[in-house]
Amino acid sequence: MRRIFSTAIPLSLLFAFSISTRSVVAESRFPEPDRLPSHPELPDPLVLFDGERVASKEQWIEKRRPELKALFQHYMYGYLPPSVKIRSKVEHEDAKAFGGKATLRDVTISFGPPGTPPIQLLLVVPNARKGPAPVFLGITFCGNHALVNDPAVRIPKVWMYPGPGVKDHRATEAGRGKQIDVWALEQSIDRGYAVATFYSGDVDPDRSDVREGIQAHLRAKDAKATDHDYGTIAAWAWGAQRVVDHLRERDDIDRTRIALVGHSRLGKATLLAAALDERIALAIPHQAGCGGTAPSRTKNPKAESVRRINTSFPHWFDGAFKQFNDRTDKLPFDQHCLIALMAPRPILLSNAVEDQWANPSGQFQMLQAADPVYRLLGTTGLETKEMPEVGTCSDGKLGFSLRAGKHSMTAGDWKVFLDFADKHLGKPAGR
Ligand code: GCU
Repeated sequence: MRRIFSTAIPLSLLFAFSISTRSVVAESRFPEPDRLPSHPELPDPLVLFDGERVASKEQWIEKRRPELKALFQHYMYGYLPPSVKIRSKVEHEDAKAFGGKATLRDVTISFGPPGTPPIQLLLVVPNARKGPAPVFLGITFCGNHALVNDPAVRIPKVWMYPGPGVKDHRATEAGRGKQIDVWALEQSIDRGYAVATFYSGDVDPDRSDVREGIQAHLRAKDAKATDHDYGTIAAWAWGAQRVVDHLRERDDIDRTRIALVGHSRLGKATLLAAALDERIALAIPHQAGCGGTAPSRTKNPKAESVRRINTSFPHWFDGAFKQFNDRTDKLPFDQHCLIALMAPRPILLSNAVEDQWANPSGQFQMLQAADPVYRLLGTTGLETKEMPEVGTCSDGKLGFSLRAGKHSMTAGDWKVFLDFADKHLGKPAGR
């Protein structure tokens, strides 16, 4: 067999090689933002960048889908780092968690050059199951210690958002168990699902002024910064994909039924991760809004705009995206195209009436515009013409739900997620 790389090449050089090569290839393919044509209306997901119409399922899979993946990374999120080999180690195990209903593990997932911070993964798997369990993978704003009362679950040491039990941007013992209601793990266990969670800050703490997490370790040291380098949302998406690598190695997890969930900014990362990675069977970007599930070309005065998000959170997207602040008409896609990358897999956009910042009606419009791709692929799509009533969820693989209340994640939301998963991935065996 011909060897392409000598094993003597250090790993860091291989990273440098793949990262810089990717950007160069992409840059030569797509023009500068100001040279893109204007599309005041939503671009057709079934028309290629060169104007050719996508007429078959094969053309979508072989040409349009990879093209859209590249376009989103190029002009909006930045190119994700290449995938790397992961290692895992169980740090703590309780086979009788939740009164004996589940096995809980605190696992370290490490990767990258020495010194790269690992992901601390909490994994709870129902004990009463027939075969491997389907799993919800959740990206969180807090540490795993906040989701359970187990004193042995580790507290993150990295920078953290202000919140219950967080002092000077560091999690403390006082936060243990404080987010139990938000994640409602026991409800998922009772329904036959495993749940895996990790803190987004393990991968990239949400700070515009500092480079930590993978930003400090997986960027090629000598690579010139470009307008297409990945931002924080892409970093989180990449982290979720590394956890998927781990989940797929496990005997107790059904590798064909991995659902990804995230709230708000982490919902944006959820959609991106799943859109780029067909191993994720279901995506639930909850109240994700601008830069995720809501249109960039929005006219809704209550909703967040591209200019606003790029100004408040300059590190979330790549440099190129800033050039669309006042020219969203020049974007060669809108967020319906990212949703369409999920086809034919199910996706649920769950929303709340008072959360107009996340633009629920705009999100519904994105599902309508993604629907033709689902039809081309021969599956159900958005099975309703009107926005569902408050307290209900639409039928079909392009799901939309609306509830009363505010921007938050609750046990009630989880019930909707579980019902949607039961319907589209099949109920866990024996339930
Ligand atoms: C801000 C931001 C939103 C984001 C939200 C969150 O409100 O403007 O885009 O979704 O934070 O993550 O909670």
